[in-house]
Amino acid sequence: MSASIYVLNGPNLNRLGTREPGTYGTSTLGDIELLCREVGEDLDLEIEFRQTNHEGTLVDWIQEAGDLAQGLVINPAAYTHTSVALHDAIRTAEIPTVEIHLSNVFAREAFRHHSYVSPVALGVICGFGITGYRLALEALSTVIRP
Ligand code: DQA
Repeated sequence: MSASIYVLNGPNLNRLGTREPGTYGTSTLGDIELLCREVGEDLDLEIEFRQTNHEGTLVDWIQEAGDLAQGLVINPAAYTHTSVALHDAIRTAEIPTVEIHLSNVFAREAFRHHSYVSPVALGVICGFGITGYRLALEALSTVIRP
């Protein structure tokens, strides 16, 4: 049976493609979903791909992932830098979690250098654009099925 992986995306990522292309590239969220589905097929992972602009919805989905999935890839977007609620939800879900960012947050403004998510993530990938999603799924598959 395929392992189930939730790929969750936070606020403003629905605007990818036109949002600050110099920072985030020109791929859309649809392109990222397609990539995740292709990688999922290669790695025999069942992908549940979602985006929301709402913090509480992300908390609900992380709880759901904890109940139903074997792993989580999350780009929490701006909530990375503000959300104790996401930190607590991921800690409680107790499934391997990879935090990802399209941009290299450490090469940007100081307020992006702190993450509430990193301490409860298995690992963090940032700065590789949409390839980061592929890397995150590959990393998770080695942890789920070493
Ligand atoms: C982001 C980086 C965050 O700092 C920012 O708020 C985002 C996107 C990224 O993917 O590079 O919305 O998570």
